[in-house]
Amino acid sequence: MKALVLAGGSGTRLRPFSYSMPKQLIPIANEPVLAYVLRAVRELGVTEVGLIVGTRRPEIEAALGDGSRYGVRLTYLPQDAPRGLAHTVSIARDFLADDDFVMYLGDNMLPDGVVDIAREFTARRPAAQVVVQKVADPRSFGVAELGPDGEVLRLVEKPREPHSDMALIGVYFFTAAIHEAVDAIRPSARGELEITDAIQWLVSSGAEVRASQYDGYWKDTGNVEDVLACNRHLLDGLSSRVDGEVDQESVLVGEVRIERGARVVRSRVEGPVIIGSDTIVVDSQIGPYTSIGRGCVVTDSRLEESIALDEASITGVRGLRGSLIGRAATVGISDQGTDHFRLVVGDHARVEVAA
Ligand code: TTP
Repeated sequence: MKALVLAGGSGTRLRPFSYSMPKQLIPIANEPVLAYVLRAVRELGVTEVGLIVGTRRPEIEAALGDGSRYGVRLTYLPQDAPRGLAHTVSIARDFLADDDFVMYLGDNMLPDGVVDIAREFTARRPAAQVVVQKVADPRSFGVAELGPDGEVLRLVEKPREPHSDMALIGVYFFTAAIHEAVDAIRPSARGELEITDAIQWLVSSGAEVRASQYDGYWKDTGNVEDVLACNRHLLDGLSSRVDGEVDQESVLVGEVRIERGARVVRSRVEGPVIIGSDTIVVDSQIGPYTSIGRGCVVTDSRLEESIALDEASITGVRGLRGSLIGRAATVGISDQGTDHFRLVVGDHARVEVAA
């Protein structure tokens, strides 16, 4: 089996971060989402990975290289524009040849793994096997209507009146039968070649399409709230390790990871928390559920349930919660007197201040 990992797309929901980095490299517990994805693919025994990339290819290539760090071999497959998930399959046609493959959305996290589902697919080899999870509001998902034995009867994209609460999540298994389906479909109303249309084409032509329910933790990290939620979830599994320096006046509570070269001075760190290498924390309170990247400076501040990306600087702000702070961003106190804030905020940024 091969893998097709999708790391193109436009990432509009994750602006402003997606202006300066591909959303698939957003760090969760200080590791890019794509690192988790490649490990999950490797866990299936797959080593040949086609990686769909758009305009952000240089950063992705700089981060992942040839994939050997993750035990896989990456073939970069450029997509000129986000023309849909099924379009990526047609781009990868030569790479995939007639092999079975797993298609994995590069911004989706399924930390509990899909090894059992892959095994079901390999044993039975339906034309396609989708992965589904029950959701509270199916109207914003592709939804699968299922028969009693897990067979897919119908797929509906974002149904206004859903007949099923089983949403398609970011992993799909295919045999080479999908290629004929992708060739047969036309772009949808939003101008994309939809993978749900290709799978529905298989169902309509009488091919076997099955669904497997994934009961583990799943997040599409396409927006800020879900990035933070996923960070909280992954930090719950953290174990303590201190490779940096913690002075006598600091207190560490619970599971705390302090990477090499980081320094914690006169501060309280309440786990689960990760503090990245070469970051300095002084006179501050960090955590719980916080990941601080590399080379950050946090002084006289309080930060909880948040993520700070590399080289961010936070000074004198007590009470940051649920925040995602971008690379080399500066958050500090204003010199405009006590009644004023001063903001230098980029396009599509979001600032919420105390009322
Ligand atoms: P989406 O999150 O559905 O699309 P998007 O990246 O355009 O995001 P947004 O809705 O915020 O604008 O894409 C799921 C994954 O598939 C994601 O990792 C991007 C990738 N993708 C491609 O590689 N090529 C494509 O043509 C599309 C649509 C998505």
